[in-house]
Parts: sequence; C-alpha cells; structure tokens
Amino acid sequence: MKKKLRVAIIGCGRILPMHAVPATVLEQSELVAVCDIRAERAKAAAEKYGCKAYTDYKDLLKKEKLDAVHVCIPHYLHPIVSEYALSCGVNVLSEKPMAIDYESAEKCVRTAERFGLNYGVILQCRYNKSAQLVKRALLGGRLGKIISARSTLTWTRPDSYYAESDWKGTWDKEGGGVVIDQAIHSMDLVNWFIGDTPVKVDVSIANRGHEIVKVEDSAEGLITYRNGVRYGFYCMNNYGCDEPIEIRLLCEKGKAVLTYDDACISYDDGTNETVVEQGSDIVYEGGKDYWGFQHIKQISQFYNAVLGLEPLEISGREALKIQKLICAVYESGKSGRPVYLNEEKK
Ligand SMILES: NC(=O)c1ccc[n+]([C@@H]2O[C@H](COP(=O)([O-])OP(=O)(O)OC[C@H]3O[C@@H](n4cnc5c(N)ncnc54)[C@H](O)[C@@H]3O)[C@@H](O)[C@H]2O)c1
Repeated sequence: MKKKLRVAIIGCGRILPMHAVPATVLEQSELVAVCDIRAERAKAAAEKYGCKAYTDYKDLLKKEKLDAVHVCIPHYLHPIVSEYALSCGVNVLSEKPMAIDYESAEKCVRTAERFGLNYGVILQCRYNKSAQLVKRALLGGRLGKIISARSTLTWTRPDSYYAESDWKGTWDKEGGGVVIDQAIHSMDLVNWFIGDTPVKVDVSIANRGHEIVKVEDSAEGLITYRNGVRYGFYCMNNYGCDEPIEIRLLCEKGKAVLTYDDACISYDDGTNETVVEQGSDIVYEGGKDYWGFQHIKQISQFYNAVLGLEPLEISGREALKIQKLICAVYESGKSGRPVYLNEEKK
C-alpha cells in the first residue's frame, strides 16, 4: 500500500489501546500523535506508541496534517471535538455514543456530508462473528422475518468505577448510566438486526444500587417497531461480574441466540448453524479481551473508506439510528411515559 493515513487519537484513557494498537499495526495507517488534557497521559501514550504528544486538540489539528482522528473522550465532548475536526477537513472516527443528545449528533453528520468527509462511529460489536452470522441469516432470508427480540445485560460496575472518573455516572457529561454506556452495544445489535423504524419506546429506568451517582443503573422496556416487531430489553450493572450478554430473536423460520460473542441459530427445518468466537487476532495490551474486541475490524474498514477503497459501513448517519433510540429510551425513562417516534402516535 502506497499512502499511509496520518492519524491521531484524542483521549488517552481506558479505551486507548483499542484504538492505538490498530492505528499502529494496520498497514493503512501511521499513528502520528496522541492528545490528552492530562499531559502525563499524553506523554505516556506517546512514549508507548512512538508518536508525538499534545494536550490541546486544536493545537494538534493545526500543527499536524492529519487524514483522520479518533475521538476517545468523555461523551459530552464527542460532538464538539468531532465537529471541530470535521470543520478542519479531517475525517473522524468517534467512540460511541455520538453525543448525549440527538441534535448535536445530527449536526456532525450534516457537517461531514457537507464537506464530503468520513464520519464513523464505533459500534464494534457488529463485527463480532456471532453478529455477522445472524445478520447474514436474516439478510439471506433463511431465518425469515424477526417476530420479536429480547436482550439482557447483567454486568458489574462497582462504585470505584464511578469514583475514579470525573464524568462517568453524570447526566451532563456521560448522558446516563448503564443504557448509554454498556447496553448501547446490545441495543444497537438488536436494532440493526430488526432493521426497521422504532415507533414506540416505553421504558423504566432506576438507580437501585449506586448511591454514589444519580444516573440509572437499571433499565427495562419495550420497543415497538413500525413492522410490528416487539423488542424487550433489561439491563443493570449491579451484578457481581460481567455475565454474558444474551440476545434472542424469534423469527418466522427459527430462532437465533447470541451469548457474548457466540451464536447459535436453530432453524425450524431441524438444522443448526453455530459460531464460537475464538478471541481476537491481535493483543490489545491493557484493552478489552471480551465482548466487543472487534475495534480493529471497524477501524480497518474506516481507514479503507478514508482511502476511498470502499464505502464507510457504520457512518454517522447509520449510527443516528441507535442515537435516536437511546435518546428516546431516556426521554421515556425520565418522563415515565411512552415516547412515540416518527409521528406515529397511536
Ligand atoms: N466501544 C467500547 O466498547 C468502549 C469501551 C469503553 C469505552 N468506550 C468509550 O470510549 C470513550 C472514552 O472512554 P474511556 O473509558 O477511555 O474514558 P476515560 O475517562 O478513561 O478517558 C477519557 C480521556 O479523555 C481525556 N480528555 C478529556 N477531555 C479532553 C479533551 N478536551 N481533549 C483531550 N483529551 C481529553 C481525559 O483526560 C481522559 O484521559 C467513551 O466514549 C466511552 O464510552 C467505548
């Protein structure tokens, strides 16, 4: 490959290895700089990955001729920094969620489209082998249409998880708790599998076990789609460990069950298809090694799009679908009433 993309990462926190390792090892890219307002974090990351350190993202964007930036900072800053980078003519790969509201996420999408830039949003679980198997079975028609779906997430986030952070567990900086931070991935997968428009979102949220924060640590609800599919979900982070996330799809011609990164499809004709995830092909030192370690696949796809080799798969416009759903979940959960989307109030 001739041209290597000049990329930088803004934010050197916990998620850094999931971005820095791919940016370093993929043949499409060269990691030229990292940036963090905490100088010691930027310096340590720069030493580890052999690149320059910045403490001001505007300075980084001014001084380095970048092709792309990865945005890995607190949620409320995602649209501010993404919008700024796009307006500098730089392609953006933002960590999830795009924003904590819908409007600023949509603004970033419009800016990217106006400038003809790639604006990707990390929803890496779509690249799990389990998710790919089920999506293929749905697209190919072997499973028939989905009739109903459910997902459960019971994970642990001890008080220390929130105590160690100046933004996690806050409404104004994180935008919520277990839904926007952890369940967003399983909810995105189900929304992607169903592939239709949610019209009614009826949700309860509560904080049942984390006095240290005000945001929800538990949520359950029912989402109804235009095509009549009903999706029920439950999530909480008061459990004693991160149990496997489970997604179940009842379809016209069989059932699909995703448990963590494995999937089993049982067709009504008596046949089965299964996939067992063998783990990541690369080691993300200090990064995640379970549910959702497919950052490298999504990052590689994003780089290919920036190089003009293929269209961007998870664009900002695509990610707006889960953004809209998450915002409706909070609107319903906070108001205690169902939210009707797309003017289909019944
Ligand atoms: N896709 C996934 O599975 C996954 C998993 C974990 C985290 N994340 C996401 O990654 C993002 C970061 O999460 P984290 O756990 O690494 O958080 P973190 O708090 O560990 O790190 C955030 C870093 O951003 C830095 N920062 C804050 N403001 C900045 C600014 N203006 N400029 C530069 N740096 C700034 C902070 O100093 C900190 O080092 C979040 O969006 C989170 O949801 C995604």
